[in-house]
Amino acid sequence: MIAGDSGIIHALPVRRAVTLIPYQANIAGGCTSDEIFMKNGSTSSAAGKVQGRNAAILINSMARASQETRSARKLKQSRQLQQRAEQLMPGGVSSPVRAFKAVECDAPFLVRGQGSRVWDADGNEYIDYVGSWGPLILGHADAGVIEAILSAAVNGTSFGASTPGEADLAQLVVEAFPGIEKVRFVNSGTEATMSAIRLARAFTKRKYIIKFEGCYHGHADSLLVKAGSGVVTLGIPGSAGVLDEISQFTLALPFNDASILEQAFSKYRHQIACVIIEPVVGNMGCVPSAGGYLAAVRAITKRENTLLIFDEVITGFRVAYGGAQELYGIRPDLTTLGKILGGGLPIGAYGGSAEVMNLVAPLGPMYQAGTLAGNPLAVAAGRATLERLRDNKAEIYAQLESLSAQLVEGVAAAAKDAGVRLSFNRVGSMFTWFFNSDPVANWSSAAKSDTAAFGRYFRAMLDAGIYLPPSQFEAAFLTTAHSKEDIETTLRAARASFAR
Ligand SMILES: Cc1ncc(COP(=O)(O)O)c(C=O)c1O
Repeated sequence: MIAGDSGIIHALPVRRAVTLIPYQANIAGGCTSDEIFMKNGSTSSAAGKVQGRNAAILINSMARASQETRSARKLKQSRQLQQRAEQLMPGGVSSPVRAFKAVECDAPFLVRGQGSRVWDADGNEYIDYVGSWGPLILGHADAGVIEAILSAAVNGTSFGASTPGEADLAQLVVEAFPGIEKVRFVNSGTEATMSAIRLARAFTKRKYIIKFEGCYHGHADSLLVKAGSGVVTLGIPGSAGVLDEISQFTLALPFNDASILEQAFSKYRHQIACVIIEPVVGNMGCVPSAGGYLAAVRAITKRENTLLIFDEVITGFRVAYGGAQELYGIRPDLTTLGKILGGGLPIGAYGGSAEVMNLVAPLGPMYQAGTLAGNPLAVAAGRATLERLRDNKAEIYAQLESLSAQLVEGVAAAAKDAGVRLSFNRVGSMFTWFFNSDPVANWSSAAKSDTAAFGRYFRAMLDAGIYLPPSQFEAAFLTTAHSKEDIETTLRAARASFAR
């Protein structure tokens, strides 16, 4: 799908011009309407630009008019906020999937969250299954987390120096994760995976890395190869600006296929520094490993002296308190964390055995640093979140499991009753309904999903007050704040949406 700067333009008369735009222009965040106009025969002079802008406004307002009929909700404020944001920020967003391009509707601007609910700028209320893309396992504005943030904030928001809370959080991480003896805090999941790969290369003195198709590990250059998440949502294979000289060292293999992994190791013997994997994929939708796949990946990497990195940015503290490595009983060499670790504030981390982590500066030669790393507010929110999860582990994960099962299976049953072809994957409180008659086990099967049907369902659910991830290829999440009533409301909405 090719989408314009604001609104969906593929149904508009300029389509031919859009398809003429070279591939590179499209992947740089969707072509702007100015570009469309200029490719369509205008000049690049100032006057041409003004004309181009007018055309852009026209195109945008046509696109909006076509979308307005799609929504039963009042969205005036959100639309105005979007228009303003688009003047100032690419696509009006700070991260691409927030633009709702794949689901062809206006994105609500959110102004408040409490528990399982969020409210938009027009006052519409939604039951939220995005949870800020995973971090908010305790729901929005949890009282304990907010209190921890406020108490930390009154003492200063950042020092660029060590604080006692960092080691408290590190202790929680080390105790939770079988594969972590030492941990380094960074600001995001992207920094965590990028640093873990640098560390793996430093440790093994090898160049190549292996990742899996449809897995997303953040937007570092070497990882934007056949990535999932927003990259597949926008239908692009990678990113402009990533040099071939860098991506040539990233081998992207199909997920859930140990024999292909073996073949890669025979071809690149003694050259592979690490294998990085989402042990339960969240970024082509939720896709668990099948059979003994993770155990096979562990055995092969061990035999080849290649470091195994579990990217647990989503799964850490989510599928079990100790992440997928606890759930499946497999110990990776390095683990990356983010999301829940910061309780809704920006943080990331990478950790592993003391032997490997001691290569990180200032102890060793692998350099990595951060002005705001280990920020006291993020550390406080993370501690409050993890302590709650740790102290109530048995009840919390049992409740998440049982409510998630009711929700996911209930929606699947509603689809079946309505004759809608749906398959689903779920591991604990992360899940995806695929508009796909077949089970989804890797990117090629996920890609066969009917994204148009997903879009129709998504819009109907949003109109009914249910906020789902705005892409077929993203996982949804439950929080401890979701109630049985929330699930029942959602199932009623699903039945009505499938019947539409
Ligand atoms: C598995 C995984 N790894 C890494 C990242 C990157 O994290 P961040 O967005 O915090 O940079 C994400 C983001 O969604 C992710 O899902």
